[in-house]
Amino acid sequence: MTPRARYFLDAVRRADSIVIASPGYHGGTSGLLKNALDYLQELAADPVPYVDGKAVGCIVTTLGWQAGVTTLTSLRSTVHALRGWPTPLGVVVNSSAKPFGPDGEALDPKVAGQLAGLGGQVASFARMRASSSV
Ligand SMILES: Cc1cc2nc3c(=O)[nH]c(=O)nc-3n(C[C@H](O)[C@H](O)[C@H](O)COP(=O)(O)O)c2cc1C
Repeated sequence: MTPRARYFLDAVRRADSIVIASPGYHGGTSGLLKNALDYLQELAADPVPYVDGKAVGCIVTTLGWQAGVTTLTSLRSTVHALRGWPTPLGVVVNSSAKPFGPDGEALDPKVAGQLAGLGGQVASFARMRASSSV
């Protein structure tokens, strides 16, 4: 295993919650992202297997809406399979509308609000889990 793969696995182990963003490639997540998520098989025998019990915010960017919906569904299915908890709010960003500025800032207030909402849900779930110690 490469040092980068080990770094990724350790980051996931340490995380209380996770945000995953993927471009939509032909109706599903990109191969690069899926390959990274498949590395999580290495965590199968951990005390916390895969991403068990962690909130996972799912964000997708596509050049239209149709692929955004199918890609978000696909990403959430993968997160379920990894025992994660996809947040109720997932975000699809239509990149054909050029919603981000040169420094990555959201130019569209609706997109900014949705991303902030997703971040809030991820953080709230992590806090609830920590305080319930389940
Ligand atoms: C191999 C490949 C497949 C893609 N398939 C789709 C697709 O099926 N539907 C879609 O809306 N966009 C598709 N896209 C566009 C990406 O989703 C888009 O490039 C991504 O959202 C990033 O946006 P940007 O190129 O504006 O940075 C594809 C791009 C690539 C490279």
